[in-house]
Amino acid sequence: MKHTFFSIFAALTLASCSNTSPDDLVDDTPITTTIKYTTDIFPIVESQCLSCHNDNSASGNNSYSSYTQFRNATENGNVIDRITRSVGDPLLMPQGGQLPQNSIDIILQWQLDGYLEN
Ligand code: HEC
Repeated sequence: MKHTFFSIFAALTLASCSNTSPDDLVDDTPITTTIKYTTDIFPIVESQCLSCHNDNSASGNNSYSSYTQFRNATENGNVIDRITRSVGDPLLMPQGGQLPQNSIDIILQWQLDGYLEN
């Protein structure tokens, strides 16, 4: 019983140390971690590109279903060219929209970090 009480006390003390305000939820800090395909890039591609660029419907003859496919398209300059065009440019990707700036920054940083997979 004494032990349980101490554990709860310790947990509460630790919890009170992490001070999360609503401001902390807005991700406007510079990217300081190394960007990896599996954890950082794939979620962007999956939600923003795969509906058109998949193995069954490869818009522009480009499927981005795998690491290698997306890496090649980024390495040859096509992806960066298309995601950084101005709003209103018919070549801007994703077609009919624009990536949030943070997603563009993550892809640019992935390039700088050397296209790491995992
Ligand atoms: C609503 C469908 C759609 C979505 C979503 C979409 N694309 Fe596309 N994409 C197309 C079509 C159609 C083409 C071919 C016409 C053209 O070149 O603009 C294309 C072409 C491209 C090309 C040129 C390929 C080449 O070899 O010239 C790139 C690069 C590209 N898309 C990247 C992306 C990326 C990156 C995303 C996600 C951020 C994305 N697209 C999302 C439909 C889409």
